[in-house]
Amino acid sequence: MLTDEMRDTLIQRAVDAWHRAYAPYSDYPVGAAVLTEAGEIFDGANVENAVYPLTICAERVAIFKAVSEGKKAFKAIAVVTKNGGTPCGSCRQVMAEFGLDTIVLVAKVSGELVNTFTVRSLLPEAFGEADLKAS
Ligand code: THU
Repeated sequence: MLTDEMRDTLIQRAVDAWHRAYAPYSDYPVGAAVLTEAGEIFDGANVENAVYPLTICAERVAIFKAVSEGKKAFKAIAVVTKNGGTPCGSCRQVMAEFGLDTIVLVAKVSGELVNTFTVRSLLPEAFGEADLKAS
């Protein structure tokens, strides 16, 4: 259950992170914020590199920050861009690793909520741990 207040707080944290993005090459800043089941928020922004493929997306920065602090159960993740773009395929796969029911809030940097998804809806038939064990 995600209260309106938590939703708004999460989006605002992603907006704040958007302003810290390092995106000189694409000029496409992205901010993200993930809410743990315990109510903690970890945020992140995309960090680009002159060696383009080394770029890391905002969602993965936020999720990796949380996981590296031992938090792996997520209620929701907010993703903020200038135009309400949806998370890339790599980030969907990383989200799926930690739960298909996580809510994904897609918003604009104005704070406008554009769309609400679940990870499951963004990545149907996701590959996961179970596939590695199936014979
Ligand atoms: N980007 C993200 O941070 N998240 C996404 O889900 C889509 C793409 C970043 C990567 C790169 O810095 C810029 O947006 C343009 O692709």
